[in-house]
Amino acid sequence: MRKRLAAGNWKMNMTPSQAKAFVAEMAESMKDAKNEVLFCVPAIDILPAMEAAAGTNIQIGAENLYFEEKGAYTGEISPLMLMDAGVKYVIIGHSERREYFAETDDTVNKKVLCALAHGLTPIMCCGESLKLREQGVTMDWVRMQVKIGMQGVTAEQAKGMVIAYEPIWAIGTGVVATTEQAEEVCKGIRELIAELYDAETADAIRILYGGSVNGKNCAELFAQENIDGGLVGGASLKPEFVQIANA
Ligand code: PGA
Repeated sequence: MRKRLAAGNWKMNMTPSQAKAFVAEMAESMKDAKNEVLFCVPAIDILPAMEAAAGTNIQIGAENLYFEEKGAYTGEISPLMLMDAGVKYVIIGHSERREYFAETDDTVNKKVLCALAHGLTPIMCCGESLKLREQGVTMDWVRMQVKIGMQGVTAEQAKGMVIAYEPIWAIGTGVVATTEQAEEVCKGIRELIAELYDAETADAIRILYGGSVNGKNCAELFAQENIDGGLVGGASLKPEFVQIANA
């Protein structure tokens, strides 16, 4: 039985002191959350957010990592740094990183392998643009992203991974995918995992939907057979995240 994951993605929002205050404020209402609760936060917010989350059921994750342990990579964060800070989950290959920071399926694959090698759980993102959807190649595109992103990942590692399906046209737009659209692609991803690995791995891996998830639409989305929770941007910065944590 897959435990649902309510994963927040703060993106470039919240200063360290805001992060600390927000996590502290949310802790009480999250106490009895039904789903696993996670906020992925900017690197500089990780430690203060962790401090505020200590002793609560809120977990703090990262939004990115670099695929080397250390060295001359100005501005980057290594898996060793994340592990030392107590991070378990790391978002990899978000569409904003692909669009603005030149990440490709190959760099995503390197990051996924690096995260796994260091005991971190990747939340690997995929998703199509509106143009690709209109061209009718959504599933081909997503299959390619997942297939390349998971190259060299063993079945044992895949079982513990999280994949987030986030149609780009639904991110930050208020235009949520229909439940049918979201379930169709999440189901397709699970079928791909069964093809690449086996039924047991497909059954274990968690697949999230992301893109304008909010307190109102989360229940219907999370009720789908192949949707194991959400990767949530805007609504993870607000108290309404409690509803998502319980959906
Ligand atoms: P959104 O962002 O919930 O604000 O649409 C989702 C995401 O980018 O992960």
